[in-house]
Amino acid sequence: MEPITRLLHAGDGADPAAHPAAAPIYQTAVFTFPNLDAIAGYYERGEGYLYSRNGNPSVHDLERAAADLEGCEDAVATGSGMAALVIGMLAVARGGGHVIGCGDLYGGTHALLAQAESIGFTASIVASADPDAVAAAMTPDTRLIVTELITNPKMRVNDVAALADLAHGRRARLLVDATFATPYHCRPAELGADLVMQSATKFYGGHNDVTAGVVCGRRALIEPARELSVLLGTTLAPFEAWLCLRGMKTLALRMRYQSAQAQAIAEALLKEPRVESVDYPGLPHHPDHALAQRILRGGFGPMLAFTVSGGAEGADRFLRGLKLIRFEPSLGGVTTTVSHAATTSHRLVAPEERARRGIGDGLIRLSVGCEDLTDILADLRHALAN
Ligand SMILES: Cc1ncc(COP(=O)(O)O)c(C=O)c1O
Repeated sequence: MEPITRLLHAGDGADPAAHPAAAPIYQTAVFTFPNLDAIAGYYERGEGYLYSRNGNPSVHDLERAAADLEGCEDAVATGSGMAALVIGMLAVARGGGHVIGCGDLYGGTHALLAQAESIGFTASIVASADPDAVAAAMTPDTRLIVTELITNPKMRVNDVAALADLAHGRRARLLVDATFATPYHCRPAELGADLVMQSATKFYGGHNDVTAGVVCGRRALIEPARELSVLLGTTLAPFEAWLCLRGMKTLALRMRYQSAQAQAIAEALLKEPRVESVDYPGLPHHPDHALAQRILRGGFGPMLAFTVSGGAEGADRFLRGLKLIRFEPSLGGVTTTVSHAATTSHRLVAPEERARRGIGDGLIRLSVGCEDLTDILADLRHALAN
C-alpha cells in the first residue's frame, strides 16, 4: 500500500475491545500497573507505557505515521517545531559539536543557531546553501548541516542530495526542515537526509489549531533524540498528537489542491502592476526552478512570496485592504493567510542580513488555502488596488 493509504488508517484498532472507528485519545499523564512484574515488563522488555512524558499511545500513533510518511525508520513528536529542531541538533552535536545552518533559514532557526553555545554546541550560519560555500565553513568538529528544503520566506529550493553527499563525505549528518514542502511533495530521507524535521503546526496539522513538531530518521539517531526529549520535557501532549494525526489524514488532498492554487496565484500575481516580484519555485524564472522540477513531485507547494511596491507602507496598505485573507504570522492551514516576514518570522534577523537575503519591507508571504481560487484572487487584487 501507498503511505497515504496507510496514513488514512493510522491509529485504527488502538482499543481492540471497543472497536472504535476513530482512534481514542489517551488523555492520561500516567499508566497503572497491576504488579512489579508489569513494571519490570516496561523497563526491561519495553512493554506498554509508564508516564506520558516518556511515551503515550496517541503520540506513538502520530510518530509511526510521520515516520512512515517520511520514509524513515522512526520519529519523535515534540511540543513544537522548534523543539523538534533543537532535539535533532542536540542529538547529533551536543557536547561541543559544530553545526552549520545554511541558506535562507526561518528566523527562529537563525536565532537558535546564533545562541548555540549557550545550549551546548557551536554553530555557523552560511548565507548560501551552495555545497562549496558550506564546505568552506566546515571544520573538523562539524557534525551537522541544517538546511530547509523550500526556504522561508524566499522559497529557494536547496539541493538536499548534494548537501547529504558533502556531509557524509566529512562524517557529518544532514538535517532538513521540510515544513514548506511536506512529504507529499518531497521525502528528503530518500535524497540522503539523515534527519527530517517538520513544524507539524503547519501543513501536517493543517488547521491552525495545534502546535507540534516531529523529527524523523534512522532509529540509531532517533533513539538519542527521544531520550533527550524525555529528559528535557519537550514531549507532545496526547490531544495535540491526536489533532495532528487527524489533520495529516487529508495532507495529500490538501497539498494537491493548495499547491495547484498557489501555482495559479503566482502566475496571476506576475501580471499585477503593483507587484514588483514573485518568489515561487513553480515559475520558470525562479532561480531553482530546474532543481525544484527534479526533486518536488505533484506541484511546488502552497507557499509563495511576493513584493508589493511602496515598501513597508505599501505592505501595510495591502494588509489593510484584505477582506477575506487574514494577516496571521503562521502558515499551513486550510484558509489562505498572509504574513509580513520583516516584522514577524524574520524580525530577529539583522536588517542588513534581511536586505542581503532579499527580505524587503514590501515582501508578503502567502500561505494558500482551500477557498475557491476566484475568491482568493479577487481579495488579493482588491488589496493591491488599495
Ligand atoms: C520553516 C519553519 N521551521 C520551523 C518553524 C518552527 O515551528 P514551530 O512554530 O512549530 O515551533 C517554523 C515556524 O514558523 C517554520 O516556518
